[in-house]
Amino acid sequence: MFEQNKKIGVFDSGVGGLSVLKQFLKYLPFEKYIYLGDTARVPYGNRSPETIKRYAKECTDFLVSKDVKLIVVACHTVSSVALDVVEQNSNVPVVGMIKPATKSALLLSKNKKIGVIGTRATINSNAYQDALIKSSEKGDVEVFARDCPLFVPLVEEGFINHPATKLIAREYLSDFPNFNIDTLILGCTHYPLLSKVISEILPDVELIDSGEQAAIYALRLLAEKNLLVGEKDVISQKPDVEFYLTDYTSNFSDIAQTFLGFKTENVSFVSLSN
Ligand code: DGL
Repeated sequence: MFEQNKKIGVFDSGVGGLSVLKQFLKYLPFEKYIYLGDTARVPYGNRSPETIKRYAKECTDFLVSKDVKLIVVACHTVSSVALDVVEQNSNVPVVGMIKPATKSALLLSKNKKIGVIGTRATINSNAYQDALIKSSEKGDVEVFARDCPLFVPLVEEGFINHPATKLIAREYLSDFPNFNIDTLILGCTHYPLLSKVISEILPDVELIDSGEQAAIYALRLLAEKNLLVGEKDVISQKPDVEFYLTDYTSNFSDIAQTFLGFKTENVSFVSLSN
């Protein structure tokens, strides 16, 4: 098979990566995708780096066995803690969440005061913070980071615009107005769904959707490497995604619909560890 016609592999700890897949379907609608959600072991965000690395290796091996042309690490926790594991265990380009988002934040921010929110493992790893400081031209950026662990279960409960979510968001984000940030990176798959709630609390702050930035980055990367699917090979514009889950949770299709905006078909099960 021609390299261009191979699929793009996307993996996440669970359903959250569907917010990233949604952006890829928007910017790269003609590509074919394999989505792997490790729903049996989600969440990764409260786990140790050693465990996250082990899980990342198993997800990578699965996508490599599917002969994909690009691996998208949709999970910010894996992107923060174990991107090197994915790179070392695959022979195709790898796109994580950190680099595209930090580059875009540095371009957008005028006062160079940038906030980052994510899971505990993501924030504790300092991956976003270090990338911002390393990529800033004059080292003049100030970064304010905060973990928001309750956002993930709230979104999965469908509490998107719910008073409980607003209350918790106000608590988590209470320090940001004092820091005078003008840009905030949504450093977790679930947070773009809370953009409206976050913007109500921080109305003058520009929000960066890392998944969207990753999709734009991947589009450029595939074009540079001559790996974009050829137009002549495009038959339909309908999203072409094979879904693989490690556990079929009863609410998967409802949550998937919330994240993606369409019903998921083509769902199979896979066991990663044996
Ligand atoms: N997908 C994870 C992330 O983006 C959030 C859910 C989890 O903790 O596994 O960090």
